[in-house]
Parts: sequence; structure tokens; C-alpha cells
Amino acid sequence: MIVVVGSLNMDLVTQVKVTPKVGETTLGKGLDKIPGGKGANQAAAMGKLKGKVSMIGRVGEDEFGKTLKDSLNKDGINTDHIKTAKNPTGVAMIMVNEDGDNSIVVIPGANFDVSKNDIDEGQSLIKKSNILVTQLEIPLEVVEYALKKAKNFNKYTILNPAPAQKLSKEIIENVDLLTPNETELELLSGVEIKREEDLLKAGKVMMDQGVKELIVTLGSQGALYMNEKNHEYFKGYKVKAVDTTAAGDSVNGALAVALDQGKTIDEAVCFAMKVGALTVMEKGAQSSLPTLERVEEFFK
Ligand code: RIB
Repeated sequence: MIVVVGSLNMDLVTQVKVTPKVGETTLGKGLDKIPGGKGANQAAAMGKLKGKVSMIGRVGEDEFGKTLKDSLNKDGINTDHIKTAKNPTGVAMIMVNEDGDNSIVVIPGANFDVSKNDIDEGQSLIKKSNILVTQLEIPLEVVEYALKKAKNFNKYTILNPAPAQKLSKEIIENVDLLTPNETELELLSGVEIKREEDLLKAGKVMMDQGVKELIVTLGSQGALYMNEKNHEYFKGYKVKAVDTTAAGDSVNGALAVALDQGKTIDEAVCFAMKVGALTVMEKGAQSSLPTLERVEEFFK
């Protein structure tokens, strides 16, 4: 079983030709409301891939909150520990351009009401699970508390450090697997990544800080896995990208499901690359996440 501690957002999405520059106004095509939020996307990805998942988080007492919880329930997620807060449900304003790349502004709302007490109340779930997965769209002190709690119970912890923020020593020490993309790795390591050597150098900086295992997601280029002794590249898939929103979330979800099922890290990363590729081929966050059947069918 997997526990996700994280955010839920309603994504308000419009399509633009080119992402506007600072001070520029542009026209958007359509406005879709799509369930999102990094935590909820990762939980939904796991549910669609037949993982057994519970989520700890918060939504507002409003229509968006109800829709987001219903959507997770449909994907088989246990939402008993998604509580309501006084603040409104988190919202993300997303522009997707013609290349499928996005720009996102998150208004955290209820996500910033997730508290240490919520983690204590969800303790029995953490105890029963094998893996705890979290991200950085809830207060950092709660991320740290959840990771520590999971490690006290001897659980495997995965931190997707997104959106990028500097991490405390306590957070890093309690993470088993860190899963940044290149931009996040640059911020965390302080190494500017221009060439392959830089990537390895940045990874080494993270190892020196106490990270045990690292998977750097490289978009269609695949991923780099590193631990203290070895590193290995995994190939990605070149597909027509319609919308990259939630691609990283789907990769994290897939990794957790595979590891929870006892797969090796190699098998887990190969599987996650397939799931990530299928995610960018569809529009939206949770609307783009593939089911296990779709993955098996597409790559058979
Ligand atoms: O990772 C994609 C997600 O980031 C979106 O669904 C949006 O809600 C933001 O949290």
C-alpha cells in the first residue's frame, strides 16, 4: 500500500499559441476545469495503474473540493483522510502552448492548511503502508514531519521536489528516493546543468548531501538513476507531446506502484518512462493519466 501526502488543485486550463512574455497579452482558446494538484495527480496515476493508495490532504468546503475528492474516489483512492479546511480548494491557472509546454500559477488555498496534526491522524495509514510519497505543494514543515514519521516506521519514502524549493538537511536525510527534473536538480544542487557531466556532478552533490537514490527525469530523453555507487540512463519515448502537464506526476506514481509491487528499480523506471510518454499524449492533468490496460496495450 502507498500513502500520498500532498496537494489537490482544480486546474483552470487554457490553450495559447505562444506563451506570453512579461507584459504581453494573448488570447486563450477555451477554459477547462480539470482535476489536478501534484499530490492528487500522483495518487490518481497510482490508482489508474492498479496501486492500492490512500491520500492525506485538504480541500475547501466548496464545489471544487467535492469534485476533486469524487474524482480520486473514482480512481479507487481512499480519500478518508482528505479533510476540509476554511480556505478554498487550491487552484492552478495553466496555459498550454502549441508545443504542449505549460506555465502554471498555483494558488495553494486549503493545501497550505495541511498540518502535522493531519499526519498524526493519518498515522495508522502510514504504519500499514510500504511507501510514503510526497511533494512540495503543502507546507515544508509538514513534508518534513511526514517523511520523518514514515522513516520512524521504517517505510520507503519518495520525495518529488516540485515545485522546486531549497530543502532542509532533515528533509533530505529522511528521503530514500528523490525525483527531481533537471530544473529542480539545478536549484537543489546549485550546479548549472548544460552538459551530461553537469548532470552527474549535480547528482553527486545531492549524494554528498545525504540523498540515497536519485531519479532525474529528462522528459523525452528518459531518466538518470543514481545511487552512491552506480548510475544508469534509461531511455525515454519520443511521442507527439500534446500537453506535458502531470507527466512528472505520472512518472512518480508509476515508480511508486512498481516498487510497492516488489519490482526492481530498473523495472520500475522502465515502466514509469512508458507511463510518462502516454501522459504527454493527452490533454490535462488527471484527464491524461493512462490506465494499466492502456500502458500494456500501447507497448505490447
Ligand atoms: O504537476 C502538474 C500540476 O501542477 C497541475 O495539475 C497543477 O495543479 C500543479 O499543481
